Amino acid sequence: MEIPLAVYGAGGAGRELRDLAMQMDVFAGREREIIFVDDLLNGPLFEESRLYSFTKAQELFSPPDLRFVIGLGEPEERASLAEKVLAAGYGLENLIHPSARPPDSARLGRGVALYPGVFLACDVCLEDNVLLMASVAVSHDAYVGAHSVCAAGAKIAGHCLVGRRCFLGMNCAVRENTSIGDGGVIGMGAVVLENVGENMLVTGNPGRAKPKPAGFRVFGRE
Ligand SMILES: CC(C)(COP(=O)(O)OP(=O)(O)OC[C@H]1O[C@@H](n2cnc3c(N)ncnc32)[C@H](O)[C@@H]1OP(=O)(O)O)[C@@H](O)C(=O)NCCC(=O)NCCS
Repeated sequence: MEIPLAVYGAGGAGRELRDLAMQMDVFAGREREIIFVDDLLNGPLFEESRLYSFTKAQELFSPPDLRFVIGLGEPEERASLAEKVLAAGYGLENLIHPSARPPDSARLGRGVALYPGVFLACDVCLEDNVLLMASVAVSHDAYVGAHSVCAAGAKIAGHCLVGRRCFLGMNCAVRENTSIGDGGVIGMGAVVLENVGENMLVTGNPGRAKPKPAGFRVFGRE
């Protein structure tokens, strides 16, 4: 039995990641427990998986005995949980669906999750804790910064630079050689034709950018 995997966050993205991890374990013929860690829910079980707060998980599992994936879709929150997990000495695991098959030239950081049907072309780089949902395509030489999330069907063309803690909405498209600054949010279906500065929100076709309001969250206000 391998050491357990903890999915930090038991909301929608966390449950999707748990399912991805379970599928991968079946493909790999691997047996291990997958637990949820969530500081807002009370255990002992959530959807048949053990559920602990981070503090409780630390009491029960020393760092070599537990690995984490971050189960949140909000980039700022992904960043803070990943930093907390790493600071406590735990490792972040990559979850890569077999259909994603990154080429040898791809460089992947820690805690990267690739859903079914993700396409990575040659020489892409995905930094730590990047989450690419189903059917995302990242073309040759493109770069995606740490903690960024691409929702299903997002397309990033060749030589693009996507910053840290960005969110690219479902079915958006980013033209080749275009950069998106840190904290950028690209709305569903937006077509990004020009460079986007830091903390900008882009919608429409052609994409129009405006500053992201203070405290903006992709998944609703706090
Ligand atoms: C772009 C986005 C972040 C804006 O969020 P928001 O500011 O809370 O949006 P609101 O619903 O308040 O809409 C604000 C305005 O933007 C428009 N708008 C919102 N999303 C848009 C989009 N994707 N494309 C074009 N216009 C959009 C709204 O019609 C509204 O226009 P109005 O002011 O003229 O009435 C959000 O709509 C979006 O696309 N999120 C990504 C969703 C996604 O990919 N989910 C995947 C989950 S895994």
